[in-house]
Amino acid sequence: MKDPKKILVTGGAGYIGGHTIADLMANGFDIISVDDLSRGSMRMLHGIEKITGRKVKNYKVDLCNLEDTEAIFTENPGIAGIIHFAAYKSVPESVREPLKYFRNNINSLVNVLQCARENNINHFVFSSSCSVYGNAEKLPVSEDAPQREAESPYARTKQMGENICKDFSVPTRKFNVTLLRYFNPVGAHPSAMIGELQLIPENLVPVITQTAIGKRKDMQIFGNDYPTRDGTCVRDYIHVMDIANAHTKALQYMISEKNTERCEVFNLGSGNGVTVLELINAFEKVSGQKLNYKVGARRPGDVVEVYANNDKARKILGWEAKYSLDEMMDTAWRWELEMKKEMEAAKLN
Ligand code: WQD
Repeated sequence: MKDPKKILVTGGAGYIGGHTIADLMANGFDIISVDDLSRGSMRMLHGIEKITGRKVKNYKVDLCNLEDTEAIFTENPGIAGIIHFAAYKSVPESVREPLKYFRNNINSLVNVLQCARENNINHFVFSSSCSVYGNAEKLPVSEDAPQREAESPYARTKQMGENICKDFSVPTRKFNVTLLRYFNPVGAHPSAMIGELQLIPENLVPVITQTAIGKRKDMQIFGNDYPTRDGTCVRDYIHVMDIANAHTKALQYMISEKNTERCEVFNLGSGNGVTVLELINAFEKVSGQKLNYKVGARRPGDVVEVYANNDKARKILGWEAKYSLDEMMDTAWRWELEMKKEMEAAKLN
């Protein structure tokens, strides 16, 4: 017997997985997390417990091991849906180690899909990325934009993952899948109890907050000679809690059988293009911290400009991107301050 509130989240100890669990629990769902903690951290699940007052069970299992993965489903009958976040996601690392990315990101997805079929679980949300668009010709980019050549093995695994989900959700099988293409998730839960945990981040916003708090002595802007309004790259930054809520809405949409197709794809972006300099200025304004940055060479593989057309998710899922750029910077900064406070408290004990 399915429990419509029982959801399995893979990668639940990660940045987006953890924030999504917080939103799912706030909306009455009961969560089982599966995370091998190779990238995620129990700190995330402990933070969720502080926010919700409820413990989240995590299975420390490598999803590339089919037997161990199947055992989780045997122990937890009645799961109504799965959200699959678990994957490696560093673009530069994927360029250095493509086979590691193909093995991990593809094998884990195939195993989870096989468990869904074996346990008659018919609602599946796949964590995808705007990186499937590459350098889109038309902006803002819509879901029907052609998939361009992947800029990295990481992006390739997202394109392959989407196609595997599409092939598996043929009409004859009752299996429903929603592909969510994230633009640039940033920020942290307003409580500052959870946020992005990256010791040596590559993404812009954690690099900014670590520079501002003194964990790094400076940072670089990777190129200011692009054909954009101020020469720096344009991205669609979206608050991680807006991304989280879209997963809740996608599950509710499928479980209530409102979906008209077996496989549907949605862009998750604010719809606003923001340059690197504009984001830095917003951070300095909100935090009151002057950032020590230099302009350096372009970063290979960077897309010049990309931002979302988010009409489809707004109209069909009833989803809104509620957080402003200032709120993204404020929550990111408050999370960095909270981590510093915890480190200092730990030194005293
Ligand atoms: C944003 C902009 C950099 C760091 C990544 C992943 C993508 C997706 C979203 C998962 C770029 C510039 C950055 C720095 C800088 N992830 N920058 N100095 O590359 O747009 O996308 O996150 O789905 O797959 O690639 O994000 O934050 O790395 O870069 O100037 O120290 O900031 O050049 O223009 P990106 P990012």
